[in-house]
Amino acid sequence: MPDLAAIVADIAAEMAAAPDRGTPASYIPPLAAVDPARFGIAIVEADGTVHAAGDADMPFSIQSVSKVFALTLALGAVGDQLWKRVGREPSGSAFNSIVQLETEHGIPRNPFLNAGAIVVSDILLGRHEPREAIGEMLRFVRNLAGDDGIFIDEAVARAEQETGFRNIALANYMRAFGNLHHPAERVLGVYFHHCALAMSCRQLALAGRYLMAGGRNPDTGGSVVSARRARRINALMLTCGHYDGSGEFAFRVGLPGKSGVGGGILAVAPGIASIAVWSPGLNERGNSQLGTLALERLVHRTGWSVF
Ligand code: DON
Repeated sequence: MPDLAAIVADIAAEMAAAPDRGTPASYIPPLAAVDPARFGIAIVEADGTVHAAGDADMPFSIQSVSKVFALTLALGAVGDQLWKRVGREPSGSAFNSIVQLETEHGIPRNPFLNAGAIVVSDILLGRHEPREAIGEMLRFVRNLAGDDGIFIDEAVARAEQETGFRNIALANYMRAFGNLHHPAERVLGVYFHHCALAMSCRQLALAGRYLMAGGRNPDTGGSVVSARRARRINALMLTCGHYDGSGEFAFRVGLPGKSGVGGGILAVAPGIASIAVWSPGLNERGNSQLGTLALERLVHRTGWSVF
């Protein structure tokens, strides 16, 4: 095993000095206020050893990274029926795009686009009240990470509720095609709240362990998902986890990864490690600039690319 303690320390030092840090998201007002100088990294090895550096214990808004956990729960609720309502192809368009929905009958290309994750939230809502579905998500990630300190940042959820006009449009547009079964505002209540989960890199890397470990939660030994489902979720992260930047991420990093506009990325080296990085500045595709660079350097030094 490479000297991971030295590697994470080196990467954090390199990222602290990086001149080009990208720009924090501004369309969700509280995210624009986060200091772009922040950088954190945490790696959990298969045996549970954690290596962390930089701001690895500072909570940040995980945003779209939550779509991985939401998909996992929704697959648990309805199984492969989910794929009747959401596709499994990369879109080549932006995370919040509406264009493909018109010609594709309101079926989003994949569960990581905003439209796809809104359908997933509709499934999570099921017969519940929004607050029950939100509570279930929170319990799920706390359980995965083995950490009850994880919380939902209500100010971020509220800001999205007030400014998320594109998401409101996406939800209503899909409802017109019959692909949303509940009123848009109830579904979006679930969606905005899971996007507003606040987690540190350490908590996020711990929560992602089941994806490295064939679907098992190493704390309990219990199965979160089957090994086959874990492989499939990883495949979707690799092909769709960075939206129209997914090809570039696979080219540079070569790991399944899911980004969020809060600047976090969860990456999985199957069988080897669960990795979380965070830096709020984004590149032009809305993915963390330094988070991607840090993962590229990590893979370069460890040889962990899946290819
Ligand atoms: O719906 C939104 O726009 C945000 N809650 C999540 C978007 C996001 O994280 C895209 N990822 N890079």
